[in-house]
Amino acid sequence: MNLTATNHRIPLSDGNSIPVIGLGTYSDPRPVPRETYKAVKMAIDEGYRHFDGAYLYHNEHEVGEAIREKIAEGKVKREEIFYCGKLWATDHTPEMVRPALERTLKVLQLDYVDLYIIEIPMAFKALEACKDAGLVKSLGVSNFNRRQLEVILNKPGLKYKPVTNQVECHPYFTQPKLLKFCQQHDIVVVAYSPLGTCRNPMWVNVSSPSLLKDDLLNSLGKKHNKTAAQIGLRFNIQRGVVVIPKSFNLKRIKENFQIFDFSLTEEEMKDIETLNKNVRFVELLMWKNHPEYPFYDEY
Ligand code: A2P
Repeated sequence: MNLTATNHRIPLSDGNSIPVIGLGTYSDPRPVPRETYKAVKMAIDEGYRHFDGAYLYHNEHEVGEAIREKIAEGKVKREEIFYCGKLWATDHTPEMVRPALERTLKVLQLDYVDLYIIEIPMAFKALEACKDAGLVKSLGVSNFNRRQLEVILNKPGLKYKPVTNQVECHPYFTQPKLLKFCQQHDIVVVAYSPLGTCRNPMWVNVSSPSLLKDDLLNSLGKKHNKTAAQIGLRFNIQRGVVVIPKSFNLKRIKENFQIFDFSLTEEEMKDIETLNKNVRFVELLMWKNHPEYPFYDEY
């Protein structure tokens, strides 16, 4: 597939499509007011069309404001923008699903979101009704392991299959088995923490060394006149994985988007695959006693 800066959508199984790079908007520490708004506007100017956010991130209103302003300016059309929102674990009972999605729409001041994803395998039926009501174009999940995906896929009467599974994925955690399973079921993998996160030891497992300091990624970067971050992002999009690097800094927002003017050879892709350490940076240990904690299974 020939991905370019202006044409980099990949298909979803429901007939919709998703831009292969998006701007992550979760910030640690919490963003200062107006920072997200500025970052989203800069990103749209740079060519980003996909934004990954959530009500829980405390800045969804700024993402919506920036998108609406760029639409009003005539820079982009609504249908060119792809917004992914998230259903948080406290809103899983069926009667809470639509109000949660409507709260996101109200905060964004948009009529629909392009993708809405949930954390653990419940509430999917109520989400199907939201898709039928036109409030969301596509339904997906996040942090689902294979067993949990199978629960949904095998659900009697399932109307819409999840089209994406958003999970941690980068050269130190390449997710080969989950990726293969998802690809076999037409589920696009969306990589969160594609640069290895902010490495805050309060919630990030820093037992793996920093991804961006990796020797191979840096030496491939030198060879292609790119940074380690760009090599890591290119690696994922070249294997069909959508990336959502977070940055609120113009230089790095630009840098992370400059991944369409070079490609990695098959051998380089294989070399990067060998970096996999099978160690997560994001363990979500606060959920470790939940019966659906997703990370005890092998994948
Ligand atoms: P900042 O917003 O100051 O750019 P991830 O998306 O893997 O969670 O990583 C996000 C973290 O990496 C943020 O702390 C972000 O900080 C930083 N970051 C984003 N892009 C780059 C880059 N190209 N090089 C180095 N650090 C980056």
